[in-house]
Amino acid sequence: MHGWMSSVSVWKVGVDVISIEQDRDLGNLTTFGVPARCRFFAAPGSVSELTELLHWARRRELAWLVLGEGSNVLFTADHPGLVIRLRIGGIDFRVGDNGEVLVSAGAGVNWHTLVETCLAHGAHGLENLALIPGSVGAAPVQNIGAYGVELGDRLDYLEALDVETGQVVTMTAEECRFGYRDSIFKQALAGSHIITGGVRRLSERPDPVVHYPSLAAYLREQQIEPSSANVFRAVCEIRRGKLPDPGLIGNAGSFFRNPVVSRARHEALRQQFMSRFGELPGFPAESEEQVKIPAAWLIEKAGWKGYREGDAGVHARQALVLVNHGDASGEQIARLAGRIADGVEALFGVRLEREVTVL
Ligand code: EPU
Repeated sequence: MHGWMSSVSVWKVGVDVISIEQDRDLGNLTTFGVPARCRFFAAPGSVSELTELLHWARRRELAWLVLGEGSNVLFTADHPGLVIRLRIGGIDFRVGDNGEVLVSAGAGVNWHTLVETCLAHGAHGLENLALIPGSVGAAPVQNIGAYGVELGDRLDYLEALDVETGQVVTMTAEECRFGYRDSIFKQALAGSHIITGGVRRLSERPDPVVHYPSLAAYLREQQIEPSSANVFRAVCEIRRGKLPDPGLIGNAGSFFRNPVVSRARHEALRQQFMSRFGELPGFPAESEEQVKIPAAWLIEKAGWKGYREGDAGVHARQALVLVNHGDASGEQIARLAGRIADGVEALFGVRLEREVTVL
């Protein structure tokens, strides 16, 4: 890695005065913690600061990238332009009709802080999404989901800056085209819209979602009544038990998406590998005709669980999570991911797609 220090300049950008760092180390700005640098870095605290920064970058013909909390990216090279970390904060509660609570939050709010704050205010519905690393603004991009709930089920509308026009547009959940770890912000609007905040319609009446197998089993074994607070605690416990804490060991959660295959293909694979590996698990997919296969099962059966190559490795308790044991580079982790995908495909004929954005 380069040995020089980044320098901080205060730039008058439009009407705002924003500090822009030059040659910033990105190592502690992503949860993988791999070394990388960017030419410029800024952390705007408002939409107007963000807009001015984008003008500033455009005048210099700089590429830009919004990073959130860096919990779903892997840098394999330095960034040649401006990296932006949104600091737009604030959580606001309003009581709507029919026992609903309208919760709005800025894009820079930490996701788990939002989940906790909602529960503390008696607004139910986000508890299954506890402890997911990342920010409120990044959450809709990949439609975060866990333990039977996806963000798209809970979001009413969001606000996003249209970079071309400089206008903030309001988009309904339907307009966001949420799918499994997917949204319009990864597709048609990638690079043209930046999410600045969102509103969730939560309920004053608890309606816990407890059908996800590992969550249901945990509540049953511990003989815990499924209240929202208990679901929150259970999800935190389950996640802490098998997912590595990014504060202790670099990772970005699930590295791959769970592949979705037809029912017929699932059944054929099930029969082909039953005697060798036991029952092939399958989870419901968006369409009745399809089944989601846990990529973790495929990776584990292909022999990669706990594997380590230098400081790049596969987590020992969750095979879907790649980890940086200390000094791995982004390239080393990406190379390992490629080998895992190739190995799984050679054995099962199923191609794993990355969930993490590799830059
Ligand atoms: N499994 C294995 N080996 C393992 C781990 C799991 O064979 O090492 C099998 C088991 O059969 C288990 C099944 O995989 O029943 C599912 O495991 P788990 O409940 O841990 O969920 P996952 O499919 O591996 C998905 C999400 C997670 C989310 C959990 C819980 C994706 C890509 N990942 O993982 O999301 O927390 O479900 O809902 O859909 C993330 O996106 O970063 C993430 C962590």
